[in-house]
Amino acid sequence: MPRSPGEAESAPRPPESQTMSGPPAGIEEMHATRHVRLEDLNAYYGSNHAVKDVNLSFEPGRVTAIIGPSGCGKSTMVRCVNRMHEEIPGARSDGHVLLDDVDLHASNVDVVSVRRLVGMVFQKPNPFPTMSISDNVASGLRFTGTPRGEISDRVESALEGAGLWNEVKDRLSSPGMGLSGGQQQRLCIARALAVEPDVLLMDEPCSALDPVATLKIEELIGQLKEKVTIAIVTHNMQQAGRVADTTAFMLDGELIEVGPTDKMFTTPDDDRTEQYVTGKFG
Ligand SMILES: Nc1ncnc2c1ncn2[C@@H]1O[C@H](COP(=O)(O)OP(=O)(O)OP(=O)(O)O)[C@@H](O)[C@H]1O
Ligand SMILES: [Mg+2]
Repeated sequence: MPRSPGEAESAPRPPESQTMSGPPAGIEEMHATRHVRLEDLNAYYGSNHAVKDVNLSFEPGRVTAIIGPSGCGKSTMVRCVNRMHEEIPGARSDGHVLLDDVDLHASNVDVVSVRRLVGMVFQKPNPFPTMSISDNVASGLRFTGTPRGEISDRVESALEGAGLWNEVKDRLSSPGMGLSGGQQQRLCIARALAVEPDVLLMDEPCSALDPVATLKIEELIGQLKEKVTIAIVTHNMQQAGRVADTTAFMLDGELIEVGPTDKMFTTPDDDRTEQYVTGKFG
C-alpha cells in the first residue's frame, strides 16, 4: 500500500535486524536479544472475547511458559504475536505487540516480515508432506535472498541447531514425513530456525510426543534460549518447571499472574494460580 510522505516520517518502520537486512548467516551466529511486549492486548472471535487486556513480556535469554486451563486463550494470545490470529475469519485483535520498540501490529509492518522474525512451532508436527527433509528446512530460505550455493550450509546449520543433523544427514532427500514424531517436531523447529527468527513461539510442542522425544525437545529449548527469545504454551506443569525461567498463568482470557517459575509453583501471589498449579482445577 502506498504511504503518504507524512506517514512515512512518523509511522514505525519494520524491524531492522540481521534477519531483515540480509540472508541468514548460520544458527551459530544467533543471539537472543529481542524483547517482546504485549500491551493491552485483546483478541476476539466475533463476540467471544478470548484474550482480555493482556500485558506481558517475553525476555531474551529466558524461556516464558504460558499455562492455564483449556480454552483460556493461550493459543489465541501467541497467535496474535506473529499475526496468525488475523487470518481466522471473524477474528480481530487490538492493543500492541512490540518487538523491542516496533509495533508488529502497525498497519505498515509487513506480515511476511513479522512471520520471519517470529517463528512458530505447533502442537502436532506439520512437515510439508510432499517435501524432503532438506526441502522442508530450506522452504523459508528462498524468501531471504540466501544464495543458492549457501542453502545446503544453512540447512545443515538449522538441523544442527535443532539437534537433528546426526540422525538425518544420510537421508536428507527422504520425505520429512518418514521421520518419527519427535524427529518431525525437531524438523519443524529446524524449519523455523533456518530463517533465523528473533522469537520462537511454541504451542504445546511436545503434547503429541513420547517422554524421550519430549526430553529431547526440552533440552533443545534450553540451548535455543540463548539464540532466540522463546515463549512456550504447555499443559504440563512439570515441563514448565523444567524449561521455563518465567511462567505466566492465564484464566478465562486474562493474565492472572506472571513471575519466576519457581515462585509461581511454590508461593504464587494469586489464589487462583495456587489452585491451578496444585491441580485443584483445570
Ligand atoms: N479458530 C477459532 N474460531 C473461533 N473461536 C476460537 C478459535 N480458536 C479458539 N477459539 C475460542 O477462543 C477461546 C480461547 O481458545 P484457545 O484455543 O486460545 O485456548 P487455549 O488456552 O489455547 O486452549 P487449549 O489448552 O485447549 O489449547 C475459546 O473460547 C475458544 O473456543
Ligand atoms: Mg491451545
